[in-house]
Amino acid sequence: MTRPLQHECRIECRFEVHFTRYAFSPANPLLHDLLLEHSENGTQGVVIVDGGLAQAQPGLAGDIEAYFTSGDLARHFRLAVRPLVISGGEACKNDPALLEQLYAQLAERHVGRQAWLIAVGGGALLDLAGYVAATTHGGLRLLRLPSTVLAQGSAGLELTASLNFHGRKDFMRCFAPPGAVINDETFLRSLPERERRAGIAEALRVALVDEPDFFQQLYARRHALARGDRQTITDMIARSARLHLRRIGLPATERGPNPLELGQWAALYLEELTNGALHHGEAVALGIALDVLYSHQALGLTQPETTAVFELLLALGFEVNHSALAGLDVPAALATYREHGGGCYILLPGLGEPRAVTRIDPRLMARCVDALLHIDPHDLPALCRLEAALGEARRRA
Ligand SMILES: NC(=O)c1ccc[n+]([C@@H]2O[C@H](COP(=O)([O-])OP(=O)(O)OC[C@H]3O[C@@H](n4cnc5c(N)ncnc54)[C@H](O)[C@@H]3O)[C@@H](O)[C@H]2O)c1
Repeated sequence: MTRPLQHECRIECRFEVHFTRYAFSPANPLLHDLLLEHSENGTQGVVIVDGGLAQAQPGLAGDIEAYFTSGDLARHFRLAVRPLVISGGEACKNDPALLEQLYAQLAERHVGRQAWLIAVGGGALLDLAGYVAATTHGGLRLLRLPSTVLAQGSAGLELTASLNFHGRKDFMRCFAPPGAVINDETFLRSLPERERRAGIAEALRVALVDEPDFFQQLYARRHALARGDRQTITDMIARSARLHLRRIGLPATERGPNPLELGQWAALYLEELTNGALHHGEAVALGIALDVLYSHQALGLTQPETTAVFELLLALGFEVNHSALAGLDVPAALATYREHGGGCYILLPGLGEPRAVTRIDPRLMARCVDALLHIDPHDLPALCRLEAALGEARRRA
């Protein structure tokens, strides 16, 4: 018997996250300098713009085209095609025809491996564009300009891109690290309140598992966050982005189960169940509410901590008793998540102390779902007294 050949390799990736305003203004040198530093003469670019953003900021697609076709940049960098405006939101991750159209554009324009794919939009559009970038010629260079609170604070920094398959959320997933990320605050100015609120859920999640002090800050500023106070939102995004980067920066061996999956088993199922009617951040908020309530019942998360999480969710305007919870089949959701997530669930015995467990008691979790549905969510002491309060609620019904 001959000894087997061995191979070991490490995949290194390094990227910068910039914070700016008016990235496509000729007066702002950031994008120009970044592209020139990482391009050769005649490098091609393809820009994909989120249709929701383009509609809300009508001059944007024209500004982007002008930015690349006039001035110094045009001598070194060539748009292969006019900016492609694609309908954003979850629907763009469901549509294989869209994927096909994008590949067709790149093939027809002979876009080569050295090209930059520049994606401007929400987390869903960034996922679609990232998937295309990662799979075309084995990987184009990817520049992300996230345009939502959620994407600037978390999704835009991730190393993967996912698409849905036949109603299964994020079933197709690939490694798609960005070459750079530019967070432009001016994009957020047209974001509807619902999207802004949904985006806070990912910041809350990283705060709960990684930095109780950040959670206290979010709690203290909850009313400013709910109002959409610009400075409070940008401060939150910067801190969330820093924490996400720290976590994804850990070597795979040290990373272990991903604490950012708190609430994810329920969020995934609820997004699939509602076919995208419940937005990603809203589903994450419901998942957090359930796992926090369960952690209080089963793992000793204190009542003041539990109550504070619910006060924050309610102040932000999340519907913690959303009717979609009535369709949450706990055993099925837990089983589906095992396929997707790889065996562990994340719970929270204390703020900043995530714990990976291999089993969640489906009966206790189903009672937590019942409690959210049937107990007045503002009656937090009752919510925490789960069993007794559920009994009272049933007697009243
Ligand atoms: N790749 C990852 O690791 C990762 C991580 C977290 C989330 N995600 C994905 O991110 C998606 C959610 O992203 P999201 O919360 O950014 O929402 P989204 O991308 O679904 O966008 C929400 C809506 O806002 C519109 N929009 C975007 N920017 C706008 C702006 N500035 N002004 C006005 N309208 C605007 C979009 O067109 C869309 O209609 C989910 O599909 C989720 O799975 C991916």
